[in-house]
Amino acid sequence: MQLPRLMGHRGAAAVAPENTLAGLRAAKDQGVDWVEFDAQLSGDGVPLLLHDDRLHRTTGDRRKIAEVPAAEASRLDAGAWFGPAFAGEPIPLLEEAVALLAALDLQANVEIKPSPGLARETAQACMELLQQHWPKSRPLPLISSFEIAALEEAQRLWPEAPRGYLVKALPQDWQETAERLGCVSVHPWHPGLKPEQVQAIKQAGYQVAAYTVNAPARAAALLAMGVDCLISDDPAALLPVVQEAVTV
Ligand code: G3P
Ligand code: MG
Repeated sequence: MQLPRLMGHRGAAAVAPENTLAGLRAAKDQGVDWVEFDAQLSGDGVPLLLHDDRLHRTTGDRRKIAEVPAAEASRLDAGAWFGPAFAGEPIPLLEEAVALLAALDLQANVEIKPSPGLARETAQACMELLQQHWPKSRPLPLISSFEIAALEEAQRLWPEAPRGYLVKALPQDWQETAERLGCVSVHPWHPGLKPEQVQAIKQAGYQVAAYTVNAPARAAALLAMGVDCLISDDPAALLPVVQEAVTV
């Protein structure tokens, strides 16, 4: 699997509310072929798109998602906080996102983002749903996570789906972990990323996807270091840099 040069983060989080169907459409409108989004479980075990384990920041609800059934979570407004144009935009179920990705012809990096203590359950439910609903005709999604246990479950249950190892700072044993989990890529936080680390990851045979890159100058520097993929809230702002890097 070849990662794209550029992928929208949480949809396209600078221009539409994160982890919503509107965000997936916005990413498509911004000209990317890939999106990253976060998947976790409702209180009744249904995978849906949400970053935080609490609902407050994006919906105003004071509860944790692990306490709220999917039917109730789906009725919350996850768009109004971002802007009045998005009022009423719901928290989408992963199943709904999969259908929209197919309709939009978008490829996906599904980040397993479990609530505390639920890494295995979250990965299991997401893998089951994806295996059931991901159209056979489409390239498989890239499954990433910071949680080793989630990647282990992804590997066990859907070994064919490519995996990305998400890290903040690159840990000392990154190579051993990436190898054990059969990852195709390593996804480091870009601010601390050094050229020699990018080189080492690539030399070991993995692609590098850096998050969350929004400044064009930093994007150009990362591409010059050899980073394969930029994960960005604002893909349209980085497109010119990416296109220039491809033509030189
Ligand atoms: O997958 C890249 C990035 O989304 C990881 O961090 O916290 O934005 O999910 P976060
Ligand atoms: Mg994420």
